[in-house]
Amino acid sequence: MISASAPAKVILFGEHAVVYGQPAIAVPVSSLRATATVEYRSPDGLGVRSVAADLAQTFPTQVDVSTVDSALSLTTQLVCQKIGVPTPDITITIDSDIPIASGLGSGAAVSTAIARALTTALGHPLDSEAISQLVYEVEKLHHGTPSGIDNTVIAYEQPVYFVRGHPIESITIAKPFHLLIADSGRGALTRVTVGEVRKLYEVNPDQIQPILDAIGRIATQAREFITTGMTDMLGSLMLDNHGLLQQLTVSSPELDTLVKAAMEAGALGAKLSGGGRGGNMIVLVTEQSSDEVADAIRRAGAVRVISTMVGGREC
Ligand code: MEV
Repeated sequence: MISASAPAKVILFGEHAVVYGQPAIAVPVSSLRATATVEYRSPDGLGVRSVAADLAQTFPTQVDVSTVDSALSLTTQLVCQKIGVPTPDITITIDSDIPIASGLGSGAAVSTAIARALTTALGHPLDSEAISQLVYEVEKLHHGTPSGIDNTVIAYEQPVYFVRGHPIESITIAKPFHLLIADSGRGALTRVTVGEVRKLYEVNPDQIQPILDAIGRIATQAREFITTGMTDMLGSLMLDNHGLLQQLTVSSPELDTLVKAAMEAGALGAKLSGGGRGGNMIVLVTEQSSDEVADAIRRAGAVRVISTMVGGREC
């Protein structure tokens, strides 16, 4: 029996604009994980069977690749293709505490965990770059034109400053900072919001391009603050980034309410994170304000609040 796991992620700055070549910053959330366990236990000739333990569902591997569930089987097929072995008769059990459709990279984490466990079980462990590329292929199923940031931050499990098509640039966090990650309670599919932004861009590129450029400048400025320890300065950049995401129409009344409640309770900054229109938002807090802000966003409708130190011990 071989197990491997992969973390969730949050995008700190630059979601959506990153699809159009702007920089973005993302960090792994190591306390939330997807785990895949490979066992040589499957009826002969049935190939790879994926079992989602928490959903109590079994997916046969040969299913229509146009469905999202088939991301699980596509991962196993790509692994076998990549290392040049026939599909073995095995069972892969997936266990994940990362909420799905919530902007935390659940799909990429599950694929990463499967690819790691399966390549190790088959005697051909792959390095993080090869795993990341393989998961990128699977990500295309989730939302057509992924930038590649989710598979990169999750496969490497490192904070990244990411520009599409460029080699990975990991960033050093000079001074750890405290984030709350709050679930708005509404699920949202990244491929839908990415598609909506694409439509806006195609209809009115002259209006949308400056918004994307402004988001890119925020990500670049944020990298400087993060790497020089000026983390308190990130708060106002988060609010600016949220405003620009509102202009791209990817916020939602629930997310805006949570941002407002966080700021009124003393947060340094807040924004939606990931695809938007639902899913999660992030809040920058001080040690003194964190409990009060967490209570305020719960009262404002957050269904789950996770506390995490970025660049330090996780809470
Ligand atoms: C999704 O986690 C981030 C988006 O920017 C899409 C992408 O980068 O592929 C919305």
